[in-house]
Amino acid sequence: MELRDAIRTRRMVRSFRVDSLTRPQIDDLLGSARRAPSAGNTSAVEFLVLTGDDVGRYWDTTLPEPRRASFRWPELLDAPVLVLVATRPEAYPDRYGEPDKERTGLGEGTEAWSVPYWWVDAGMVVQNLLLLAHDAGFGALFFGIFDHDPAVREAFGIESDVALVGTVAIGHPGSGQQPGRSQSRGRRLLDEVVHHGRW
Ligand SMILES: Cc1cc2nc3c(=O)[nH]c(=O)nc-3n(C[C@H](O)[C@H](O)[C@H](O)COP(=O)(O)O)c2cc1C
Repeated sequence: MELRDAIRTRRMVRSFRVDSLTRPQIDDLLGSARRAPSAGNTSAVEFLVLTGDDVGRYWDTTLPEPRRASFRWPELLDAPVLVLVATRPEAYPDRYGEPDKERTGLGEGTEAWSVPYWWVDAGMVVQNLLLLAHDAGFGALFFGIFDHDPAVREAFGIESDVALVGTVAIGHPGSGQQPGRSQSRGRRLLDEVVHHGRW
């Protein structure tokens, strides 16, 4: 698939078939996705891959039974692979405290950063992953962990210096696709978002 076609045709997928990806397929997706730009080449984005029973544990943690009946995308729970995307914020001041970056002052701590590049780096990796999954014929959804963050940490032994960015569900697209709530908003016109010369 041409890159521009992949970008234009990718959509979030919220219904999956249960059949899984192979370990080489997962490794291939993540191995390419992580080849993203990274501030100072800090490369602090990491993944926790859940398959098999661990997927069930994730949903038991974030969407316990009583709430499942009214869940809008039941076939999201069929996704055979969940990739938790994480980053290490403290790696950035560490990297920017090195001699070649010291003059930025960003080595002082995460609070010195007007734009937290750890989130930016993670976003670049996630977009790679979504596009690669689409290109390979899979579907994928990035979704938030929200207030389940502490419970997910506890369930999967995630250390406190790791910041969770969100979860990417990956699998073969299922037949029950339902648009996300935000999709009807449509895209803003190019003229509305591109400013030339002066804002
Ligand atoms: C940072 C971010 C967070 C998102 N969180 C969720 C989420 O929690 N649940 C969900 O169903 N979709 C989520 N989405 C998907 C958006 O709703 C979706 O990308 C948007 O409506 C455009 O649709 P498309 O990606 O299919 O083109 C998220 C997307 C981004 C970039």
